[in-house]
Amino acid sequence: MEEQLYDQIGGRDAVEAVVSDFYDAVLSDERINHYFADQDMTELRAHQIQFISSVTGGPVDYSGADMREAHSHLDLGEADFRAVAEHLETALRENGVSEANVERILGRVAELKAPVLGQ
Ligand code: HEM
Repeated sequence: MEEQLYDQIGGRDAVEAVVSDFYDAVLSDERINHYFADQDMTELRAHQIQFISSVTGGPVDYSGADMREAHSHLDLGEADFRAVAEHLETALRENGVSEANVERILGRVAELKAPVLGQ
């Protein structure tokens, strides 16, 4: 079932298109782009492809513990999380992902909110 979701979206090419639009949106958003100022964007983009693959049943797996570890030093708040989730939602929709699949993916992302925010 999980692999079906990844394949329905269009596999790796579609995931990369979503990530590309997602990152353009995040990096243009002055509410949150400061968090990414010191990051190697090539690396971060690669990680993000892995993440989206994993929440859609692709080949890579991230646990909540990994997400807690990756974000703990950033001291993120609810508004930061909401902004990122909204950009992801828009990128999924604009790349033709169906409503049902958008909702399933966002549900998976919502499960990671507590670890990402260090709650
Ligand atoms: C929707 C929830 C989120 C997911 C799924 C997510 C996913 C990821 C992943 C997979 C990584 C790479 C981890 C690794 O090194 O393997 C990462 C790193 C990072 N994320 Fe997120 N993230 C989320 C929310 C956020 C938010 C809300 C912000 C800030 C507004 C943020 C900022 C960052 C930064 C700055 C890094 C790099 C940390 C470092 O290497 O110092 N993330 N994220």
